[in-house]
Amino acid sequence: MNSPQTILITGSSRGIGKVIAQNAAAKGYNVIIHGRTDSKELNQTHQEIPGSTKTVFDISDRPATHQAIAKLGPIDVLVNNAGMGHAGLKDISDVTDEHALEEYSVNVLGTLHCIQAVLPGMLKRENCSVINVASIKGHANLATLSSLTYAASKTSVIAITKALAKAYPKVRFNSVSPGYVETDMATDWSPDTYERIKQGTIAGRIAQPEEIAGMILFLASTEAGYITGTDILVDGGYAIKGK
Ligand SMILES: NC(=O)c1ccc[n+]([C@@H]2O[C@H](COP(=O)([O-])OP(=O)(O)OC[C@H]3O[C@@H](n4cnc5c(N)ncnc54)[C@H](OP(=O)(O)O)[C@@H]3O)[C@@H](O)[C@H]2O)c1
Repeated sequence: MNSPQTILITGSSRGIGKVIAQNAAAKGYNVIIHGRTDSKELNQTHQEIPGSTKTVFDISDRPATHQAIAKLGPIDVLVNNAGMGHAGLKDISDVTDEHALEEYSVNVLGTLHCIQAVLPGMLKRENCSVINVASIKGHANLATLSSLTYAASKTSVIAITKALAKAYPKVRFNSVSPGYVETDMATDWSPDTYERIKQGTIAGRIAQPEEIAGMILFLASTEAGYITGTDILVDGGYAIKGK
């Protein structure tokens, strides 16, 4: 029997990452959960997943990320899920360098820091894979002014995925672009926004985190062994209907 693979899921204290971690544990992975801070939520997730390992670091901090990951031992699957974004821009003049740089530091550089730290080890083993969590907004034709700089950061995540898949064929690199998902990120949405999203989605509803986690764990599995360098939209059909 093959020994279980080790999976690191960044940003798994809550939201989509937490569900990925729970479902990965149920599938028999050695699960490493992660948060930016040693929060109540992270510790709660740690307790809920017996046998999981907990790690805490800010992915935008390159030395902290490298140091923390070096202590974890070999990692077979990296899910770059941690991310953040600012929304609500109404005019180009609303773009601030502060918000744009924060999104770039976390979503783009944070993703790269984690990959830099795990890749040398992955290149020495078999069946390793990286799954980056992008966004529907990262698809240039679906980007909107409201989350302009977040969209730009997620477009970069998709570009990074494809470039690294070509550069390092031994490791599979894929990304998943969720549509609108019921997590803390959704708490800012007004009833009008909820309605607009539902109307714009063929599925007629917002996604549950389980529906994103399922695709991510499929991409991590050997059943997805022929899938690399791609981005998969899990958006309930928003990309072709939209509003
Ligand atoms: N929800 C949606 O509708 C949606 C749609 C498309 C794409 N996405 C993407 O899906 C991913 C997960 O989203 P979510 O809604 O589940 O997020 P969430 O509930 O807001 O959770 C974010 C997670 O990321 C961690 N994190 C944030 N900044 C970090 C940093 N600098 N260093 C380390 N960890 C950091 C947080 O850790 P702490 O708890 O310690 O802060 C938390 O665990 C993100 O990449 C997001 O952009 C979400």
